[in-house]
Amino acid sequence: MNGVTVIDHPLVQHKLTIMRKKETSTASFRRLLREISTLLCYEVTRDLELTTMRIETPLEPMDAPTLEGKKLVFASILRAGNGLLEGMLDLVPAARVAHLGIYRDHETLQPVEYYFKAPEDIADRLVIVVDPMLATANSAIAAIQRLKDRGGRNIRFLCLLAAPEGIERFRAAHPDVPVFTAAVDSHLNEKGYIVPGLGDAGDRMYGTK
Ligand code: PRP
Ligand code: URA
Repeated sequence: MNGVTVIDHPLVQHKLTIMRKKETSTASFRRLLREISTLLCYEVTRDLELTTMRIETPLEPMDAPTLEGKKLVFASILRAGNGLLEGMLDLVPAARVAHLGIYRDHETLQPVEYYFKAPEDIADRLVIVVDPMLATANSAIAAIQRLKDRGGRNIRFLCLLAAPEGIERFRAAHPDVPVFTAAVDSHLNEKGYIVPGLGDAGDRMYGTK
């Protein structure tokens, strides 16, 4: 699939399987999501550009590699996005953070925005949007449009699970935004849930059902 990277690292796949199991507890689900997000973060940042800086080791000066450009922005689609955000910040603690409060209406599956806060200068930064689930893609499409309206130009989308229907719609809406996911599942059911999926990510993270 053009523009879609499936992160098939064995540790990611193993942890994802435990998360999918219906008997996995809220505490384990949250811990696994945080662990998995560091591995996903590693992959989504694999091609970041480096420059060098002059440093002195205890033995001698050297030109050592360092990340080029401004600090990254991680943009979390609330609530479930925060499960990915935490682990990503473990790995890139200096990243800036945007919060996009969006939930999907259970009847219409349309996105409803209730909060938006992002750094002013996202036009100059790589923005990595995180949400565990890409189902119909309505939420992700709306979130990324919001960031583009604020000037975002260099954007990637990272999720844990995607439905083929969602990927197709997302790529049509934002062909310039690459998608990174740990798995592409079979299909969406009549209620817009990813099958086989893992259920409602927010509810499983926070124990709200
Ligand atoms: C879930 C998920 C995505 C969205 C995906 O959030 O975290 O944001 O659904 O579905 P879509 O691709 O069909 O838009 P939800 O709306 O349940 O909100 P929550 O994170 O607050 O539970
Ligand atoms: N949101 C979820 O949390 N799970 C799904 O399967 C679809 C949307």
